[in-house]
Amino acid sequence: MAHYPEVTMPTFAECADRERMRFQDELFDFLRIPSISTLPDHQPDIARAADYAKQQLAQAGLESVEIIQGSGHPLVYGEWLGAAGKPTILFYGHYDVQPVDPIDEWISPPFEPTVRDGQVYARGASDDKGQVLANIKALEALRQAHGQLPVNVKFLIEGEEEVGGEAVSDFVASNPARLAADAALVSDTAMYLPETPTICTGLRGLVYTEWIAKGTAHDLHSGLYGGVAPNAVFGLVEMLASCKDASGRVLIPGFYDDVEVPSEAERLSWDRIPFDEDAYRRDEVGAATLTGEPGYSVFERVGSRPTFEVHGISGGFTGPGAKTVIPAAAAAKVSARLVPSQDPLAILRIMQDFAAENAPPGIEIDVQLIHRAPATLAATDHPMIRTASDALRDTWGRETVFIRSGGSIPVVGDFQEHLGIPTVLMGYGLPDDALHAPNEKFSLRNFHMGIASTGRFLELLGERAAG
Ligand code: BES
Ligand code: MN
Ligand code: MN
Repeated sequence: MAHYPEVTMPTFAECADRERMRFQDELFDFLRIPSISTLPDHQPDIARAADYAKQQLAQAGLESVEIIQGSGHPLVYGEWLGAAGKPTILFYGHYDVQPVDPIDEWISPPFEPTVRDGQVYARGASDDKGQVLANIKALEALRQAHGQLPVNVKFLIEGEEEVGGEAVSDFVASNPARLAADAALVSDTAMYLPETPTICTGLRGLVYTEWIAKGTAHDLHSGLYGGVAPNAVFGLVEMLASCKDASGRVLIPGFYDDVEVPSEAERLSWDRIPFDEDAYRRDEVGAATLTGEPGYSVFERVGSRPTFEVHGISGGFTGPGAKTVIPAAAAAKVSARLVPSQDPLAILRIMQDFAAENAPPGIEIDVQLIHRAPATLAATDHPMIRTASDALRDTWGRETVFIRSGGSIPVVGDFQEHLGIPTVLMGYGLPDDALHAPNEKFSLRNFHMGIASTGRFLELLGERAAG
């Protein structure tokens, strides 16, 4: 019998390792595209980013890769369904990014990815290009190692997550068969601490609105009419101030009616997670004191309690110098973060009723919906969450921590509602990644460990499922 030199296929880890630098270069190329979804001038960049994502999916070996042009910014979709009898994972990510202002505060330009101290600085580095690319690269390395994937994969990437766009929601609602899967996997959240593998079990929902106040028929001289004419800016401020008390409790009747209390087990698990409130206040929040409802921990206030916030107010005179005017109109952007089982449209309605009934004399306030998303909560004992948590533990060498996050990812609610599947929120960001802020960054170690974690998750899923 002839002897042949032993030829072994490289493992997934070896493939990922061999391609490290190329994977990183391709991440930087993705980060150079200024795909800001909210600014119309960046429409061509949105198209370029969608093309780049499409090319990446194809390079990873996905099939039927296409750009889907619907109502808004394009969706990108690809799939690989060659693992007969194995589960199907629906991946999701977003290629759009937030605006860069205040631009003066960036140490290096937001669309020139720059590495400092093992972190790549660029808008979208962590939210979400670095994370979605880690997942694509996991697929690419798995394909290189095995010539195929251990499970079936569908991959959906959208371009208007940061603006609450409806395109992805419409697509999910009208294509349940095409998107059918056993679970979704989203890497668009953060780890609790560096080197601490984390699964996010809950996201808050959101109802984002604009409050438009009208007082007099036109602006008036504040000397001639001050004392008799209703002031729209002041009326709006009074209205907003009456929505929440000084301790942070929302005063809109019915606001808390449907709020679910987290289980005893979940609260106990939060108590076991080490947390330095003072360091958090100083280093992450950067404030002299934390605010919020008395009697609730920080975890509860950002994870399992709803909020009412004002994002900006406009109206009247704000230019240099002085102008004595009673403004006739004012507007504010206002949102509430929601928790299970609050219904975004029900909360919108009680806001509208409250504004209609309680606006100050002479002021009319109209509350208009901009976008909405429900809160989501995953069961930690779901088999998919278990496998993901095992894969993270294997990769990082530490037990996985389960937390809820205060942020929102609207599509997770659509996956639950229209596809009936849970979402595994396995994020590789860090708490100091500066999402939506100047000097956003992503840890390159987390990029590579993210690739390894997602690869391990799919391998474990494939092993555990009867083939
Ligand atoms: N990736 C974030 C949400 C996030 C970040 C969740 C960190 C958990 C941890 C996402 O891109 C985001 O910013 N979402 C918006 C949604 C809104 C525009 C509909 C949000 O939460 O404000
Ligand atoms: Mn995101
Ligand atoms: Mn974001």
